[in-house]
Amino acid sequence: MSSAASSVRPQQEAPALESHVRTGKQQLPRKRKRKSEPLHAMVDDVAEQEVAWSSAVSKFQPGEVWYDTEGRTIQAHGGGILYHQGLYYWYGENKAGPTYMSFNLGYSTARVDIIGISCYSSPDLIHWTHEGPALRGGGHADLQPRRVAERPKVIYHDETRRFVMWLHMDTEDYELARAGVAWSKSPTGPFWYQGSFRPHGQQARDLTVYKDDDGSAYLVYTSEDNRALHIAQLTEDYLGVRPGYTRAMVNLKREAPAVFKSAGLYFMMTSGCTGWDPNSAEVFYSKSMMGSDWLPLGNPCMGATEVERTFTFFSQPTFVLPLPNQPGRFIFMADQWDSENLSASRYLWLPMWVLPVPLPVQQVAARQYEAYSAGGVKTMGRQPVLPPSAVDVVVQWESMWQLQDLQDPPLTRYESQAGGQTVLAEAIVQSFS
Ligand code: DGJ
Repeated sequence: MSSAASSVRPQQEAPALESHVRTGKQQLPRKRKRKSEPLHAMVDDVAEQEVAWSSAVSKFQPGEVWYDTEGRTIQAHGGGILYHQGLYYWYGENKAGPTYMSFNLGYSTARVDIIGISCYSSPDLIHWTHEGPALRGGGHADLQPRRVAERPKVIYHDETRRFVMWLHMDTEDYELARAGVAWSKSPTGPFWYQGSFRPHGQQARDLTVYKDDDGSAYLVYTSEDNRALHIAQLTEDYLGVRPGYTRAMVNLKREAPAVFKSAGLYFMMTSGCTGWDPNSAEVFYSKSMMGSDWLPLGNPCMGATEVERTFTFFSQPTFVLPLPNQPGRFIFMADQWDSENLSASRYLWLPMWVLPVPLPVQQVAARQYEAYSAGGVKTMGRQPVLPPSAVDVVVQWESMWQLQDLQDPPLTRYESQAGGQTVLAEAIVQSFS
């Protein structure tokens, strides 16, 4: 099998997702069949109504259509967020073009031509103003329409005062497998594209960047035909990689990395490699960014149904946003890809916590737990977590939610299998503070 095949071709059968659609308050994420209608036509038809919706909306609605402050559908796929001087900036792929199949080397993948990388700003993470293209398609060979530009992530350099964007650059057969870099003096761009390369000569497909508290920054990218993730520290100016890299999660075939830190530990959210189709998210953690011993914590999804948890609510992770001054509280950001019409892919943001695990529960190798919402309603079971760990990560399904909901982590009851017996370690888990 060619190297690119594992990146773009599903490796497992997706179940019949439509059968899990529900309605009303308990409405669940779904894989939609949508007509490939031109985006501008949809926008023109309903623009007036959408403006009203946009200003009235006050909660996150995972999996629904999201509009900017002008009532236009947000185009920021595979995105990431930078918090800078009181504003959030959301960068992502503008996929507002027709989806077509690209046939290469005997397999095919859905794609759109490069338009550019969008930037939106918001004071509250709900109302997003379109700041225009941060990085335009065209010009450089890497940015020609038939190429691939995915998963842009931006960090700020405190000394050079530059905003530095890293993104996955590829040819349409996904064989180029490079990391690209661009910079700007303004968070909204324009970003100046510097070019792309293979870090240490190694493939780079899905990628992210992470800036640590001490200003050191890291590039994390899927490499080795998607068999391993590589981690390389960025140079002092954030525009290149330093010598040396770490191989992590070797042979686990993980992609879509998103790094976050809590209680002094580093965490990485990942997906499996099934092209545009959803699969199970899995979190890993490590004591150091450059460590090769990232330990698995399992699938963090809680709530909804088992199928939905198994398929990460039919989404693929793209970023984890820490909430400023709120230890242990995050927003899990993911894409609900629509491979028949990529421009209509939706955003799924959910509350996420890093929780300390009570001592009795740490002693057992596998566990499942149930959680109770604040109203006392039993909401879920979940995947076993391996190995025993003092920390846990929970992504909670909500069809509609707001930032205040992050104050109260779900009450969690761990049910442990130890020595053939079921041990109930009832634990009201508090968030780190
Ligand atoms: C999975 C990746 O996570 C996406 O960003 C995209 O590259 C698709 N594969 C293409 O099939």
